[in-house]
Amino acid sequence: MVIKNIDVATVAKKFLVRGYNINPKAAELICNFGEISDEIISEVCRVANGKFIVGEEDVKAAINKIKAKKNGTKARVQKVKSELGEKKDGGFRVIKDVTGTSVCEGKVEDFVCYFNSRLEKLSRILRSRIHPVSIAHIGKRKMESVSVVGMVTNVWERGDRYIIQLEDSTGSINCVASGKTAEIASELLGDEVIGVTGSLRGKTLIADRIVFPDVPINGNGEKVKKDFSIIFLSDTHFGSKEFLEKEWELFVKWLNGEVGGEKGQKLAESVKYIVIAGDIVDGIGVYPGQEKDLAIMDIYGQYESAAAHIDELPKRIRIIISPGNHDAVRQAEPQPSLPSEIRNLFPNNVYHVGNPAYIDLEGVKLLIYHGRSIDDLVAKIPRLSYEEPQKVMEELLRRRHLSPMYGGRSPVAPEKEDYLVIDEVPDILHCGHIHTYGTGFYRGVFMVNSSTWQAQTEFQKKVNLNPMPGNVAVYRPGGEVVRLRFYGE
Ligand SMILES: [Fe+2]
Repeated sequence: MVIKNIDVATVAKKFLVRGYNINPKAAELICNFGEISDEIISEVCRVANGKFIVGEEDVKAAINKIKAKKNGTKARVQKVKSELGEKKDGGFRVIKDVTGTSVCEGKVEDFVCYFNSRLEKLSRILRSRIHPVSIAHIGKRKMESVSVVGMVTNVWERGDRYIIQLEDSTGSINCVASGKTAEIASELLGDEVIGVTGSLRGKTLIADRIVFPDVPINGNGEKVKKDFSIIFLSDTHFGSKEFLEKEWELFVKWLNGEVGGEKGQKLAESVKYIVIAGDIVDGIGVYPGQEKDLAIMDIYGQYESAAAHIDELPKRIRIIISPGNHDAVRQAEPQPSLPSEIRNLFPNNVYHVGNPAYIDLEGVKLLIYHGRSIDDLVAKIPRLSYEEPQKVMEELLRRRHLSPMYGGRSPVAPEKEDYLVIDEVPDILHCGHIHTYGTGFYRGVFMVNSSTWQAQTEFQKKVNLNPMPGNVAVYRPGGEVVRLRFYGE
């Protein structure tokens, strides 16, 4: 491999911004290792830990660590795949899922890696659209009109304007937003990655335009059309006193062709997949005084009940289960799939994935996310509400991130890679969590928030949460969405 001076200089610059010098031989070793990624730079910094000059021995140690980690990860992935034994089954394929690949230890360095990954992935999307300059270059050359891309580190109001502090890997800049851009700035959440185009006044950027990574106007550009339907469920909350047993039985009867008339039966027959986006059970100790709301006090018993109810569904239907914040997995997102002792309770037509999970159903790209960050967006942006979840989901797509606000109600596990970035535009985004129902299309992406099977609990009454239970979305990709109501009149 021929190493160009330019590669060595790139490596040296990457270390300089992290406060390190690197000797040229050590820089060459990094170039030899392959792509000059943030992963290798961060690992070397961790090994060098405070040294003034990074040497060859630091790079060699870091490379060995990365190789060992990759081997360990591969082995874990293999183990989970063989345990599940069904990750690939005909038309069903998992594209992306943290299950079996988590390497997060929650150290400070993990957070640095995590945010670098977020910045890098989202900047890549924006770079191709607005051709930005590095923030450090601003002021070095005479530039009147300029675009930058960075992570929002702070936003504050000053009179009728907003100041946005934006940071990339080279530096930070203040951008002033007024008029229409001030309205957009008022809805920034912090820690999202945006582009700003405008004119320079000294070292400040006067914003003409704020650009989100957003979904392209025509979505992912593919028009999938299928002759089968997918049912979207979530928040079944088996084990809760408020679980809607009668309504569930009616749903099962409809799927088995026992009720619903000829038209209903035809629709039921078209269902090939059921996707459940989290909160399969009510859990234990999720909120203060939850025991008063529980019919089954033991978590294993709750999953046994869940498995028995799901066993009633027709076996021709494939069921995909992703966990939520009431389930028996770590609370921080991304969450892995349910543990094997729980997965084993479910019948063979059930497939378990993590949260979020990006899957392919016979060519239909589906992004499943429980939706905890919806709480953060509704709290932060006044025009959004729980009654119209699809409008909140639009904001997730616009930001190309499932949990754009760090430090809110949604805990995030600092994985080396940010699994919550919406790298690839899906055909469908499926969320739950807030127990209301809503569907819509945004730039070609079908969005569905899939209700609940739990009536209002005492706790929800107290916090003024009005669920919309027993609503079922039946969607034929490329075709119609049918809303079925199994609860109320
Ligand atoms: Fe829930």
